[in-house]
Amino acid sequence: MTPVATPVPDASGANAAVRAERRWAILSIGIIALLVVMAAYAGIHQAVMPQARLETADPRTLHIAGEFVEGNLGSALEPDGSVTVRAIGQQYSFTPQCIVVPTDTPVTIRATSADALHGFLIQGTNVNTMLVPGYVSAVTTRFTKPGDHAMPCHEFCGAGHEGMWGRVRVVEKAAFLQAAASQRRQSCVAQ
Ligand code: CUA
Repeated sequence: MTPVATPVPDASGANAAVRAERRWAILSIGIIALLVVMAAYAGIHQAVMPQARLETADPRTLHIAGEFVEGNLGSALEPDGSVTVRAIGQQYSFTPQCIVVPTDTPVTIRATSADALHGFLIQGTNVNTMLVPGYVSAVTTRFTKPGDHAMPCHEFCGAGHEGMWGRVRVVEKAAFLQAAASQRRQSCVAQ
């Protein structure tokens, strides 16, 4: 009785496949290791290197002292012709609820949070930042056309997050300047 010859697998082909798989495994582990090192470096670097222009505002005393007291919120015309807007985000609204700004004017928005982390976004513009308790967020922009923009909070900040909306009303520069002559701080709340 002659034994049935079992087919000998093509050893060289199998070895080549194993070598190829090993190469790919080493390469992908290398890529993952590189990403881990990069993420760790970026995180540690950012944590130990504070921003160049870091401004703080104590959330416990916002309403008592400093630039974010209630009478100082809203839009103010500066001596150089630019406009500074000061606003606060708190659970679950913005103050002022409606921000008024002129067209064709450099507008600097300075805002902070009185409690949790909030988002600050003006739809249809490039204004998009976060309001972090303890810190002042500053954004400079320019509006070209009159009109209303929605201003939703876009960071989850608690149970009422979905209802946290404000509005930005862009008005003609002449109308803004006229109103600025009689009002130190402007907003469009209740208009
Ligand atoms: Cu404030 Cu979400």
